[in-house]
Amino acid sequence: MKIAQKTIAITGAGNGIGRALALALLQKGARVAAIDISEQGLQQTEKEAGALSAQLSCHAMDITNKQQIPGLIEAILHRHGCIDGLINNAGVIQPFVTIKELEENDINRVMNINFFAVVYLIKGFLPHLLQRPEAHIVNISSMGGFLPVPGQSIYGASKAAVKLLTEGLRSELLNTGVRVTVVFPGAVDTEITKNSGVQPPKMSEKEFKKYKSLSADTAASIILCGMEKNAFRVLVGSDAKFMDFLYRLWPKMAANYIQRSMQSLLNR
Ligand SMILES: NC(=O)c1ccc[n+]([C@@H]2O[C@H](COP(=O)([O-])OP(=O)(O)OC[C@H]3O[C@@H](n4cnc5c(N)ncnc54)[C@H](O)[C@@H]3O)[C@@H](O)[C@H]2O)c1
Repeated sequence: MKIAQKTIAITGAGNGIGRALALALLQKGARVAAIDISEQGLQQTEKEAGALSAQLSCHAMDITNKQQIPGLIEAILHRHGCIDGLINNAGVIQPFVTIKELEENDINRVMNINFFAVVYLIKGFLPHLLQRPEAHIVNISSMGGFLPVPGQSIYGASKAAVKLLTEGLRSELLNTGVRVTVVFPGAVDTEITKNSGVQPPKMSEKEFKKYKSLSADTAASIILCGMEKNAFRVLVGSDAKFMDFLYRLWPKMAANYIQRSMQSLLNR
């Protein structure tokens, strides 16, 4: 879908990749509805948008609160007149512990934000997107959605669920004007650990630097390029591309490789 002149709603637009997406969309001539639980984050996004903030609306909301979705949509329609796109980007990681140690609250929180909120946002927005001549839904999964990362198994499961949800949705909407794209970022340089309220993994600075991170701006530009090309799937970063290749050819070898190289992520 061409982005200029379109109205696009993005969740998690108060930080990281979501903010970079919001700013890049504004620069491409879109109107943007930025949604985030963090009011402070949204204020910063608005500040960074500068003069382009005239095309931006900010909506502070916890996306797991599904009763608020109709009001959110009403507010976006009131401000922008229509909705042509939804980017489900908001997400959190889990504490870096094994499934055995992970607490029920953390399991539910990750699934509610990363998966169920995405389902209910799609159900809320879809009737409006179907009324448009062309529209697009982009769901941000993760490299961890196809590759098992020790200490992030529930996060990975939530992102694997997003992958199949997105692919199924795409098939269901093929004969409509709504295109659907799933995105698999590798490591991106954001503050997701801090924003998720999670203790950073106990690894040395040197070890940490082994995970070459892409900037959020570069990730956003790759994602929007995929959106404009109506891509089926978008792999963000050389790590995601390499692991996708390895995992599809030799899944057990890929899983063992990640287990060996990333087990220091576990906070024991
Ligand atoms: N950073 C990475 O390395 C990486 C890798 C793969 C996938 N991803 C995915 O990319 C997406 C963006 O991650 P990021 O790295 O930019 O993280 P981030 O922490 O910088 O941004 C996520 C945003 O989501 C918001 N959010 C969290 N819970 C929310 C809720 N309940 N309601 C509304 N907003 C909420 C946060 O306030 C935050 O602004 C996530 O879905 C993440 O899983 C990130």
